[in-house]
Parts: sequence; structure tokens; C-alpha cells
Amino acid sequence: MAAPTEFKPTIVGFLCNWCCYGGADLAGVSRFQYPPHLRVIRLMCSGRVDLAFIFRAFAKKADAVFIGGCHLNDCHYNPEGNYDAMGNTLMAKRILEKLGVNPDRLRLEWVSAGEGVRFAEVMNELSAKIKSLGPLGSSEGIAVAELSSRMQTAEDLVPYIKLVERERLRVPVRTEEGYRKFFGSEEFDQLFNELILDKLVMSRIMGFLRKKPAAAMEIPGSLALEPSEVARHLRQLTERGLIKFDAGQSLLAAV
Ligand code: FES
Repeated sequence: MAAPTEFKPTIVGFLCNWCCYGGADLAGVSRFQYPPHLRVIRLMCSGRVDLAFIFRAFAKKADAVFIGGCHLNDCHYNPEGNYDAMGNTLMAKRILEKLGVNPDRLRLEWVSAGEGVRFAEVMNELSAKIKSLGPLGSSEGIAVAELSSRMQTAEDLVPYIKLVERERLRVPVRTEEGYRKFFGSEEFDQLFNELILDKLVMSRIMGFLRKKPAAAMEIPGSLALEPSEVARHLRQLTERGLIKFDAGQSLLAAV
């Protein structure tokens, strides 16, 4: 019998050119050991990592996403991009969790160009964590194709999410504590549920009905949603004319 093959995670890493990429380079030339699971994408600043990049990486079945930036207050750009990276990471973690992906699959770290040892340590830790979780979808108990489609829905919604962030979800204090406090607040929860989560659920329902007309009772089970939640959204979508019953009145279809 063939021996089971070892799981080798795919970790997509977005590294800032000025610091974390230097740290990775130093780890390499210094021959510090870390598992070869990282696929590096070099960017000029961690603030360049758009929310869409994160969801797209998972939609393409990455097992984890890593973002490496300069330490806070060391970013080379003004306003500091690494605060934006922190906001995007906290927002993406919240959305991933709501879509059934373990948020530990996304990690943000500050690593300077002189911290080769730290870079190797972070990579060792992250690889071990992702190996313990298994391939994308396995610890979640959700088929990877379904997760991929949920990630696609999230990516499609990114322009809307950015608008909401700009207009209603601005972090009031630009410090690490300020970000953590804001994203952990009741005010954030309420606005997130009302403005983003509802939209995500509706988009998922619309995506499902665009593939094929379906009976209303099929939807909660197929999308792993609460029946009451689905009923509320179906009512709203019908009122807005975005879905309708077929002539026989038994199946719902996207308009
Ligand atoms: Fe490195 Fe902005 S330049 S995080």
C-alpha cells in the first residue's frame, strides 16, 4: 500500500519590498531553515494588499495567506500603509469567519529587513499551524469548491465593502490599539452585520439562484444558512425585484 503523502500547504505571501522581503532574503542568505511552502508576491508596501487579493488567493485554493509589512511607524509611505494592511486584515478575518473559513489561515506580521531569524520563526510557526489545520476546507468541513465560490462572492463585493469602510467604518484612532478596539467594538459588530454581512448573504443567495432556479426550502441547506435568515433575505430580494417565482410558483429564480 502506498504511504499517505505529506500535506504541503500552499501559503501565498504578500511581502513589503522594504522590510519583510528583506527579512526573507536575509533568512535565505543566512540559511535559516523554514519550510518551502511560501509563494512570494513582492509589493512596495503591505498597504497595497487589497481585500480582493486575499479573497482571490483563497478562491484559488491557497491554504493560507501571509502579509508581511514594516513595523508600525516604520512604513516608507505617508499615510502609513501598514495601518491600512492591519485594517484590511482585521476586516478580511471577520468576513472569512462568517463565510466558514478559519481566520487563522490569514496572518499579518511586521518583520524588518534585519529580522531574518524572526522571518524564519514566523514561517515555521505558520506552516505548523496550517499543517495542523489541513488543506483549505478540511478543518472547516466544507468542500473546497463551495469555499471557493464563497470567496468569489466576497471578492465581487470588495468595491462595496471599501465604500462602506470609507463612509461608515472609519477607524477613529490610527494606532494598533485603536484598530483592535474598533474592530472588537459593539459599534463595529452592528455596522458589520447590517452593512456587510447582510449584503454577503444576499449575494450568496443571488449567486445560487443564478446557477439554477430552486425551491426556497433548498437554499438554507445548500448555503449552510439559517432558514429564518434566508426567509428574511428572500423577502427583501423579492421586494426589490431581484428574484421572482417561476410561472408554476414553485421555484425561485434570479431576474
Ligand atoms: Fe513596508 Fe509600508 S513600506 S509596510
